[in-house]
Amino acid sequence: MRILVLSGPNLNLLGEREVEVYGRYTLADVEAMVRQHAERLGVEVRFVQSNHEGVLVDELHQARLDCQAVVLNPGAFTHTSIALRDAIAAIPIPVVEVHLSNVHAREPFRRRMVLAPVVRGQVLGFGPYSYLLGLEAAVHLVRGGWK
Ligand code: DQA
Repeated sequence: MRILVLSGPNLNLLGEREVEVYGRYTLADVEAMVRQHAERLGVEVRFVQSNHEGVLVDELHQARLDCQAVVLNPGAFTHTSIALRDAIAAIPIPVVEVHLSNVHAREPFRRRMVLAPVVRGQVLGFGPYSYLLGLEAAVHLVRGGWK
């Protein structure tokens, strides 16, 4: 089983960006944690980050051909992107949305989550562990849980 773990804009700056919100883990740290957890779960991951909406759309399209699920942190596109929403709706594999921060406890504009209706579920507020929990959920879904 292969899972795409996809991160959106500004997440490449984890560890230096708004550390009071996102903490000191870098994206490389998160990747290492995800890879270690994937090994424990017996699955393969493709770990990709992009600041560009179109690249994220392309990655979601590609994932339908060679992955069984997606763990997605869409960054700020969470709140704006109809293109990502349509891409998620267009592919047959489950997408689990993850966020490091609890977006509901932050600025009011972050409460609008345009991908929420088309993802299988969300994990948010647990820092890098949101990625690990999201990965577990994705693997469980593919293995036939919660049908
Ligand atoms: C984020 C939350 C978004 O609101 C924000 O724009 C991000 C990161 C998170 O992981 O907490 O870039 O997706």
